[in-house]
Amino acid sequence: MNLHGRSFLTLKDFTKEEIGYFLDLAAELKAKKKAGIMGTSLKGKNIALIFEKPSTRTRCSFTIGCIDEGAHPEYLSRDDIQLGHKESIEDTARVLGRMFDGIEFRGFEHEKVEKLAQYSGVPVWNGLTDSYHPTQILADLLTVKEQFGHLEGIKFVYIGDGRNNMANSLMIGCSKMGLDFVIIAPKVLWPSNELVETCNVFAKESGCTIEVTEDVEAVKDADVIYTDVWCSMGEENKASERVALLRPYQVNKELMSKTGKASTIFMHCLPAVKGNEVTEDIFEANSKVIFDEAENRMHTIKAVMVATLGKN
Ligand code: CP
Ligand code: NVA
Repeated sequence: MNLHGRSFLTLKDFTKEEIGYFLDLAAELKAKKKAGIMGTSLKGKNIALIFEKPSTRTRCSFTIGCIDEGAHPEYLSRDDIQLGHKESIEDTARVLGRMFDGIEFRGFEHEKVEKLAQYSGVPVWNGLTDSYHPTQILADLLTVKEQFGHLEGIKFVYIGDGRNNMANSLMIGCSKMGLDFVIIAPKVLWPSNELVETCNVFAKESGCTIEVTEDVEAVKDADVIYTDVWCSMGEENKASERVALLRPYQVNKELMSKTGKASTIFMHCLPAVKGNEVTEDIFEANSKVIFDEAENRMHTIKAVMVATLGKN
C-alpha cells in the first residue's frame, strides 16, 4: 500500500483497504514499541504541530510518534505564529512547507486545514477541526478490533451531540469499515443530511447500515456505546442549553442495560465530563478500554505519519 505524500484530512478520502492498512500498521508499531524496538522511518524529518485549541492526547501522540521514529517535532500554538492573524493561511502554509516535511493542524474551521494542505506542498494531518477528528477514529477502530477481533458486523452506537466532529467522523469511519452505525440525539443535534447521504454510499459499499434517531431504545443489541462531551471546544457558551437538551441522553446504568447484552463496552474519546455525558460508575467500569483507546491515539497517529511520510 503506498500512501506516501498523502494528507490526512478526513477518512472520506481513504478507501476501506487504506484505512485497514493504517490500523494494521498501528498494531505492528504498537507491538514493536512494547517489545522495545524503535523505528527510524522519520529520521531527519521536521514536523510542525500547530494547535489553535488545547490538547493532551493528540499533542502528546504526535510528539512521541515523531521522536519514536526519529523526527523532530516543533509545537506552534495559536499565539506563537501569524497563521490567520497577521498572515494569510496560504502564505504561512507556503513558508512552513519550505521548512517542514509534514504539518499537523488542530483548529476551528475545517477550511483552514484544507488550505494548509493545498498550499504547503507537504503532508498535512488533521488533529481536529470543528467538523472532523479523523485520527481519533483510527484509535477507536483499533480499540474495537482489539476488543472484538473484527470490525464488520459490530453495532456501534454514538449518543449525545450528534453533529459534532466526533459524530461526523465516527459515521464516516464506521460506514467505510462495515460497522452498523447509529446516532442517538435530539433532532436539533442531528448530522447534516449531506453527510448522512455521503456515508450511506460508503455503508452500501461495505454492507452496513446507518440510522439516526431520537429514540434511546435504539441502543438495543449495541456492542459499543460511545459518547463525547456535550459542548465541544469553542462552544463553551452553550453549556446550560446543552445540558438541558442532552440530559435524557446520558450514558448511565439504565441506558447500558437497554442493550440487553452484558458484553457491551463503553468508549469515550476523552476528555470526559463525568456526571454529564457519562456517569462515573459506567466510566470506571470501562476504564481499561477507555485508556487503551487513549493509548491507541499514539500508535495510530504514528502509523499515519509513517505511512504518509516515512521511509520503508
Ligand atoms: N481525544 C482527544 O483528541 O484529546 P485531546 O483533546 O487531549 O487531544
Ligand atoms: N468534540 C470534542 C472532541 C475533543 C477530543 C471537541 O471538539 O472539543
